[in-house]
Amino acid sequence: MSPVRDVVTIDDLSDQDIEAIFQLADSYLETMAPPATPDRIRGKSAVASGRILATLFAEPSTRTRFSFESAMLRLGGQVLGSSDIASTSFSKGETIADAVRVVENYADLIVIRSPLEGAARVAADFASVPVINAGDGSHEHPTQTLCDLYTLRRQHPEWWRDRNGRDLNVLIFGDLKNGRTIHSLVYALARFGAHILAQPAPGLSLPSHVQRRLRTEYQCELIPSKTLKGAQKGFDAVYVTNKKAHQRRLFSGREVTVEELLNKGGIDAFYVTRFQAERTTPGEREARYPVVNTKFLKGKQYKHTSVLHPLPRVEELGYDLDQDPRGVYFKQAAFGVPVRMALIAYLLELDTRVKPAPAPPPLTGLQELKGQKCANARCVSNNPAESRHLVHRFHVVVRKPHLLRCVYCENEIEAVCKPVSRTRRL
Ligand code: NCD
Repeated sequence: MSPVRDVVTIDDLSDQDIEAIFQLADSYLETMAPPATPDRIRGKSAVASGRILATLFAEPSTRTRFSFESAMLRLGGQVLGSSDIASTSFSKGETIADAVRVVENYADLIVIRSPLEGAARVAADFASVPVINAGDGSHEHPTQTLCDLYTLRRQHPEWWRDRNGRDLNVLIFGDLKNGRTIHSLVYALARFGAHILAQPAPGLSLPSHVQRRLRTEYQCELIPSKTLKGAQKGFDAVYVTNKKAHQRRLFSGREVTVEELLNKGGIDAFYVTRFQAERTTPGEREARYPVVNTKFLKGKQYKHTSVLHPLPRVEELGYDLDQDPRGVYFKQAAFGVPVRMALIAYLLELDTRVKPAPAPPPLTGLQELKGQKCANARCVSNNPAESRHLVHRFHVVVRKPHLLRCVYCENEIEAVCKPVSRTRRL
């Protein structure tokens, strides 16, 4: 058995891992989805017979928890779940570190959701069984990204096959600041060579550390809004994937037109997100939030667009799109089952057709630093219960002046300090 693999951020899965998981998901759909409903798994296999998955959810969930549980049951395994924080010891003040060291005795795999940013990292650090992050505050939601990417791959197979030769223009829309699905998705889109067009609701742009990482770690070329004109004004920024050097030269240092930018291809995918009311401050609550519906999508650039949404929708996505072939969000939700079946089988090494690759290489060279405090109030390291056993820890991203990234929530701070030790893995 290989070392335990956790999925805390989307970068815990290499491109090779993701390709293998998608091939497994395809195979489950081919063998288990009836011809009349080809996106929907039915029946049961024996792949995970004798295995147990535990869901530790301290936030509401319908799709993520049910699709994980459905995936495990369809694989022939069993599930232990808590949908309600009041029914777990979290409500008595038990820490994540203690909870996972108890639950690992009862289950082979733990899926955790928490409002605390970095909670899944803590769980993974303490558990000896694989931990999957099902959403930690505004930080990340990597398995939603697997479903999103899988939907894009099924909707745009020619792009997936020939990613270096073809463009995929993906517009991300809505609450880009607080939406955790967005934060995992943009890194994956950048890795798989899609162009990202950011159209935030007023005041809800991508956090500055996510923007910085896109530029410096994922080599995206940023076209700032001030160089955009006319029809592009709604875009806050455009990130052009760095895979195509000729495009970088084409766009550098001058105004671009929407036709140039989109290579006459239009918007291939429109990813709508809801206003994350539970994570916002009073000022943000007043933000005007646009509605995406058939009227909004009447421009020619949206003629062949796939409309995705992680759901639930509130008011930002019109019901008139449900009958429109461009709306693929219910299909995206259905893919939650085959994709999560594939992920479970992959992490637990249950399917003999695939052998998990070694985990992506550790980020060696990044020094670890203690003694600063994370500035993010929602970080797990600032939670009174968790701080009984956690110390604030950072990775040094840039030196002099220091730019530090919290090991847990990955927010960044600038600080004047001396690194003290070297770490092996984020
Ligand atoms: C998302 C989440 O929980 O972050 N939902 C989901 O898991 N499908 C999106 C949201 O709640 O807005």
